[in-house]
Amino acid sequence: MRIIIGADHGGFELKESLKKYLEDKGLTVEDKGCYSKDSVDYPQIAQDVCKATLEAKENLGILICGTGIGMSMMANKIKGIRAGLCHTEIEAKLTREHNDANVLVMGGRIIGAELAKSITDAFVSTPFSNAERHERRICVINGSGSEC
Ligand code: RB5
Repeated sequence: MRIIIGADHGGFELKESLKKYLEDKGLTVEDKGCYSKDSVDYPQIAQDVCKATLEAKENLGILICGTGIGMSMMANKIKGIRAGLCHTEIEAKLTREHNDANVLVMGGRIIGAELAKSITDAFVSTPFSNAERHERRICVINGSGSEC
């Protein structure tokens, strides 16, 4: 599993701390930017992270902007991406179990670094439930109707 991470200037500092946290745990992290606090456009970063995330089913993406909202809007327009904006560990756990989310989104100006680590741990360690009712609903989200 690869973790592909990206942020705009509003999420840069949180991205840096999360990247180190994940690498220290021995996880493979690919950083799609940004690489300084200089202002950048979050849609481009979201597209780059999502494209790399879709390269393998087991990959997970992490996107951080100031609020997490702009990154979510962009990510969820990309076919195959199910991005969950999370502020708590339980949201992260449930968006993996129920929505098979493949991208975690957080707001760098909304949550602190320690909470972001716990949210990320919950997201990365929770598998999709594979329950039929959740698969059926995800098929609709993916544009395949309820029979896929
Ligand atoms: C950048 O100032 C800010 O708009 C961005 O980080 C994000 O919060 C957008 O949704």
